[in-house]
Amino acid sequence: MGENRETALVTGASSGMGRETAIRLAEKGFQVIGAARRIDRLNELAEEIQGFVPRQVDLSKPEETEEFCRYLSSLSEPISVLVNNAGYSIRGALEDVSMEAARRIFEVNVFSLIRVTQACIPGMRRLRKGIIVNLSSIVGKFTFPMSGIYAATKYAVEAISDALRLELSPFGIRVVAIRPGPIATEFNEVANQLTGDLMARTDPDYKPIYETAGANTGKMFAGLSVPGPDLIADLIIEAVLSDAPKAVYTAGPFTDDLLAERLKLDDDAFHRFMLEKFGLADLRV
Ligand SMILES: NC(=O)c1ccc[n+]([C@@H]2O[C@H](COP(=O)([O-])OP(=O)(O)OC[C@H]3O[C@@H](n4cnc5c(N)ncnc54)[C@H](OP(=O)(O)O)[C@@H]3O)[C@@H](O)[C@H]2O)c1
Repeated sequence: MGENRETALVTGASSGMGRETAIRLAEKGFQVIGAARRIDRLNELAEEIQGFVPRQVDLSKPEETEEFCRYLSSLSEPISVLVNNAGYSIRGALEDVSMEAARRIFEVNVFSLIRVTQACIPGMRRLRKGIIVNLSSIVGKFTFPMSGIYAATKYAVEAISDALRLELSPFGIRVVAIRPGPIATEFNEVANQLTGDLMARTDPDYKPIYETAGANTGKMFAGLSVPGPDLIADLIIEAVLSDAPKAVYTAGPFTDDLLAERLKLDDDAFHRFMLEKFGLADLRV
């Protein structure tokens, strides 16, 4: 690693918000370790930008995560900026998500985030500075129907961020959660691929529920202008460069309506709001 340059780690740097964040951090003079499975993408990035170190890791495999963490612990210059960004979504009513799929998404979105963070904190403690940026989501605070497992991983990220922010404050280490609404990346395509054909495999009981919720979700997205990953990467850089970053940064669609309602209404009122929103209030099967 270079001299007098702070080191940043971005997980999920091969695509979307992670990629854009890695590019911006390198432009700001950080040495950036970029991790993901698609090493070809990371190698291309290393050719394009100075100070980018590609590392291949599959964060769904605990033994690979461990090996990656051993590498992180062996660095002579500690990581002072950690962006826990790697993640994905799957959809489906709870009954339609296999335990294998549920375990795997928790492994990537939550357990690997915990493990990588554990590997980076000792270096930050030595420095008595640093910032941890965790990619949550608007669904870190409420859930869409047929999306509970993914939302559960982001609720977990919120809790971890809240606890860490308290625990690490005395060391001068800052912890930020990023709560994007829908952002145009490969995220949706990956979710579609991993979810597969829900209508083909669900019990007929669920079909009207999927259809109704799906049609209403379609209405919510109709004509919506979905921003690109730059919006979120810029926010992450703002947080990283700030002496006093906010606890949470929120941006993108549905932050002014759905998320704002969640933060305003009590649990029962929000439940009724969501039933209406997704056309489920009067549906009986
Ligand atoms: N896009 C949205 O609408 C949205 C909204 C709110 C929050 N988020 C969150 O934002 C983060 C970034 O998502 P994105 O929208 O930028 O999606 P994306 O374009 O699909 O990028 C996801 C990144 O995660 C990496 N990743 C996935 N599984 C991995 C694994 N097993 N091991 C290592 N890396 C893995 C991918 O790399 P490889 O495939 O090369 O491994 C990729 O670099 C995620 O945590 C997501 O939950 C997204």
